[in-house]
Amino acid sequence: MKISPNQLVIIKPDDWHLHVRDKEIMKAVLPESYRWASRAIIMPNLVPPITTGEDARLYANRIKACIDKDINFEPLLTLYLTEETEAEDVVSAYRKKIIKAVKLYPAGATTNSSNGVKNIDSVYSVLGAMSEQGIPLLIHGEVTDPQIDIFDREAVFIEKILVPLRNDFPDLKIVMEHITTEQAVSYVLNEEKNLAATITPHHLVVNRNVMLSGGIKPHYYCLPVLKRESHRLALIRAATNGDNRFFLGTDSAPHIDKTKIDVCGCAGVFNAPFAVEILAQLFDNLGVLNRLEAFLSLHGAEFYGMPYNKERLTLKKTDIPLQMPENLETKEGKITIFDPLMEVYWQIVK
Ligand code: NCD
Ligand code: ZN
Repeated sequence: MKISPNQLVIIKPDDWHLHVRDKEIMKAVLPESYRWASRAIIMPNLVPPITTGEDARLYANRIKACIDKDINFEPLLTLYLTEETEAEDVVSAYRKKIIKAVKLYPAGATTNSSNGVKNIDSVYSVLGAMSEQGIPLLIHGEVTDPQIDIFDREAVFIEKILVPLRNDFPDLKIVMEHITTEQAVSYVLNEEKNLAATITPHHLVVNRNVMLSGGIKPHYYCLPVLKRESHRLALIRAATNGDNRFFLGTDSAPHIDKTKIDVCGCAGVFNAPFAVEILAQLFDNLGVLNRLEAFLSLHGAEFYGMPYNKERLTLKKTDIPLQMPENLETKEGKITIFDPLMEVYWQIVK
């Protein structure tokens, strides 16, 4: 990494949690990621979800068909775990390098999760096989019990589901996806092995006041829902302390505006277009630009046992704040781009 006051050269980042959807939306959003990322873990929550090795192979082909040959971007596919998932299919897809990981959605926890897991015991044989084969389990860590307050669902998930699960499968590699609370940060810090967490740009930059105060702002509504400021500060400490168990997963989750601005609006923030610029500014404001490359480009590769990217990304700091467009036009409608509500001076040069 090379840092000078107005220029930054880092190993090209990866995005360890990304929704690219399908068809026209996929075509429109993919360039926003491959502009700055070399690899991305692709979420499987399509309708219908990507549940088999064959689904994943076909989806990977559809993604690759949208990317020019001269662009270096590797989609890393995941399978959507259901109570019907077969261990042999998972293992075979992993051995054939069709998938990189398996995603656990508790049924009903988030967008398109109705086919997810209701009873964790029913997937124990699959988890056993994954543990043996070293296949990572990526977890949406929220309970879905309507009795549990939405702001507490991550902390309760850790206590009720994750702790027992890790006791039963100590060798299973787990990523807690898009963590949002100080409880999740402490849990990761206190565990010895096989556990890491992704953190999103939006959970690092804004808190729940932004979504709920002075009018309700659907474009800041995502799951897990934004939390209070003390949690945001805990996430910042995790992302900037150099600990390699924390890395970037944007959770960029595009939804057409009309499905977000509705009586029952969808959860998801579309942040891929300026994720790197925003994080560079955040780390700069905190005086920790020297920690940026590790969070964006090193820690995830280390957890997944993959080499660092060979390419570099150059950013420069300008005098005028970046003018971010409000939305991305697609053939299905407009998608609003995440507004970090702060001035961003860093820009990607190449
Ligand atoms: C994601 C989506 O829209 O697919 N939404 C979100 O708010 N993050 C699903 C998810 O990752 O929970
Ligand atoms: Zn997601």
